[in-house]
Amino acid sequence: MSKKKLVLLLLLAFTLALGCRIDAGRKRIVVGFAQVGAESAWRIANSESIIAEAKKRGIELKFVDCQQQQENQIKAIRSFIADKVDVIGFSPVVTTGWDEVLREAKRAKIPVILVDRGVDCQDDSLWVTLIGSDFVEEGRKAARWLAEKMKGKANIVELQGTIGSAPTIDRKKGFEEIIAQYPEMKIIRSKAGDFTRSMGKEVMEEFLEAEGRNIDALFSHNDDMAIGAIQAIEAYGLRPGTDIIIVSVDAIRAAFEAMIEGKLNCTVECNPLIGRQFFDAVEEIVAGKPVPKRVVVDEEVFPQEVAKEFLPIRRY
Ligand code: AHR
Repeated sequence: MSKKKLVLLLLLAFTLALGCRIDAGRKRIVVGFAQVGAESAWRIANSESIIAEAKKRGIELKFVDCQQQQENQIKAIRSFIADKVDVIGFSPVVTTGWDEVLREAKRAKIPVILVDRGVDCQDDSLWVTLIGSDFVEEGRKAARWLAEKMKGKANIVELQGTIGSAPTIDRKKGFEEIIAQYPEMKIIRSKAGDFTRSMGKEVMEEFLEAEGRNIDALFSHNDDMAIGAIQAIEAYGLRPGTDIIIVSVDAIRAAFEAMIEGKLNCTVECNPLIGRQFFDAVEEIVAGKPVPKRVVVDEEVFPQEVAKEFLPIRRY
């Protein structure tokens, strides 16, 4: 090989090696995510959306299922701080009790993104943005639909989600705000079912035992609890969707199936597929770009009449 060729080859090899090093040197983004748990079909869809989007973008995701325990979420956040991740995301199981751990993240200069649920902290510099639904509006939508369906008159039982969580507090608030405009619409019983099917069934059994046929309608803070309640109503000998009108929140596929069967009357959408918006924010924050303090997800109302049309295109 001629001297000239050898020099050219060496030059090419050097350039390639340099290129590789620059590529390898490009830091991979690492994100820690402390998920609430796997309490509902909604939550499972939310986790899948986050995990799939991280994979798609080549982002390293440390994902922890915190089993609906605040202490597990705090522990996970502390481990992300120790690992020096680039961004922390979490969906707080309850609204209060986060100040200390969020201050620790701030001291470590790790930005925090709230996903789905908000916190009740005085200092809003402890998180960069909140990406999620407007839960108050979801409660209002459920109440507006029910008021129209019941012509302003109903004895309502309410299945609340997790006590102290943002969706429970806000959906209740929005629902009550609208119901207050109808003197003949009353919430006669209200109790937490923790967003799970089994608890929805258990609490509905209690409602039926106490009130029996006095119940005209059920407002359930999520579809999973409504599906549990449907089982309780059938076991009691009443027809869910006819003897007791049911409105719930989330718009999971199982709710559409129940509507087609005539057992559920309306579901208000709460969109869990927010992985793309979450990682858009992550990448913008890492790049030093500003992000809005609040990102609200668009949502619809699906009454029974449209269930057949929409079931085939529901993604969760
Ligand atoms: O925070 C969103 C709520 O949490 C969903 O409505 C419920 O199904 C989930 O568990």
